[in-house]
Amino acid sequence: MENREGFNSTFGMIMAAVGSAVGLGNIWRFPYIVGMNGGGAFLLVYLAIVVIIGVPLMMSELVIGRRGQSDSVGSFKNLAPGKKWYISGVIGVLASFMILSFYAVVAGWTLEYIYKAATNSFVGQSPDQLAAMFSTFISSPIKPIFWTIVFMLLTITIVRAGVQGGIEKVSSVLIPVLLVLVILLDIRGLTLEGGMAGLRFLFYPDFTKFSLGGFLAALGHAFFSMSLGMGIIVTYGSYVSRKDSLPKSTLNIAFFDTLIALLSGIAIFPAVFAFGLEPGQGAGLVFITLPNVFPSMPGGYLFGIAFFLLLALAALTSTISLLEAVVAYGVESMDLPRKKATWLAGGLITVVAVFCSLSNGPWSGFTIAGKTLFDFLDYITANYLLTIAAFIEIIFLGWAYKKSDIMDELTNQGTLTFGLKNVYYMIIKYLAPIVMIIIFLSSIGILPGE
Ligand code: PHE
Repeated sequence: MENREGFNSTFGMIMAAVGSAVGLGNIWRFPYIVGMNGGGAFLLVYLAIVVIIGVPLMMSELVIGRRGQSDSVGSFKNLAPGKKWYISGVIGVLASFMILSFYAVVAGWTLEYIYKAATNSFVGQSPDQLAAMFSTFISSPIKPIFWTIVFMLLTITIVRAGVQGGIEKVSSVLIPVLLVLVILLDIRGLTLEGGMAGLRFLFYPDFTKFSLGGFLAALGHAFFSMSLGMGIIVTYGSYVSRKDSLPKSTLNIAFFDTLIALLSGIAIFPAVFAFGLEPGQGAGLVFITLPNVFPSMPGGYLFGIAFFLLLALAALTSTISLLEAVVAYGVESMDLPRKKATWLAGGLITVVAVFCSLSNGPWSGFTIAGKTLFDFLDYITANYLLTIAAFIEIIFLGWAYKKSDIMDELTNQGTLTFGLKNVYYMIIKYLAPIVMIIIFLSSIGILPGE
């Protein structure tokens, strides 16, 4: 236990966790979900869920990891020997594996789009042609697989280099770069004529466009965006120094995750509105809608490249955390050397990712529960696995673990003060489980909702 490698500095630790949290979820998924759920009203609900459920949950995962000092399965076993709570960790590792399998495919698309932007491929194309360009690309048998493999190799190389030398080092450079890129894109979006309508869409709460299904989408997205319920934050928690404050670190991570999602919305919606495009398009928003915008906007060539680069970097710091959650399990619970665990986990995931990519094209006829492999993995993880793993986690902390031990960890053995102790405890014991049950039941159709 003494020679476990951990994060070197508080800054590096926060950057690594922010790197995990900030990803395609913030820049690709968040704007289109906001778009489909009516804009500002959804945003308010989302922010409330982040504060009330997301923050306490993230704090809980850090507690389990730092106190358990192992991967997400081992940490539970250390805290509750002989009990079954570690199943939460097993679901988490499984979820990480499954998420990375389709996430790496989308991450690969971002590389192709950097290339397309750099070679001026969007110029002179009609909206229909751009839509066709995207669907032809993602359904082709070779190109997306090539980029998926490139992306996985990058991810493997970084994770193999270790927690400090790989993950922490890379995140400490990439996250600040990412912040600068998104701010540049914001300035561009906000200075476009007609862009203000986009801001109004994002921030004006029109509850007539909000449905109950929006709650479920908000909760699911909060988990996804904050990387909760998949063993990642538990794993990273086990690398956090004993001197760092867990509540403070959580606030920092949640703040940057939400900030970057908002900044992405501010970069994207003004451009969409300035060019009279449809904000509620769904998953094609950044790959189909935005390429319409870049060629006709001043400086669009460079901003187009910058945007897809931003997307790729954000994806990379997330894919390394997903792989790390699986690798840590291999290293700690299965006693494999780190290099071997990385190649093994990375290799297996790449194989599934290749199938995922094929399921968008040549193999789309092969379905599970009516969904292609790609859609199935996305659906089952976001709607079930993450919520179930997180639910077990807080039931464990709230009902089966000693309150004084949790508080001990949150206050670094009483050397720090944590004013909201009781609020936090009430949330994980009562509020969060109840909210999660209600939302879950309505999502599977037992309670009225959608
Ligand atoms: N949180 C990341 C995002 O917003 C995605 C992610 C999910 C990363 C799960 C790791 C684990 O894109």
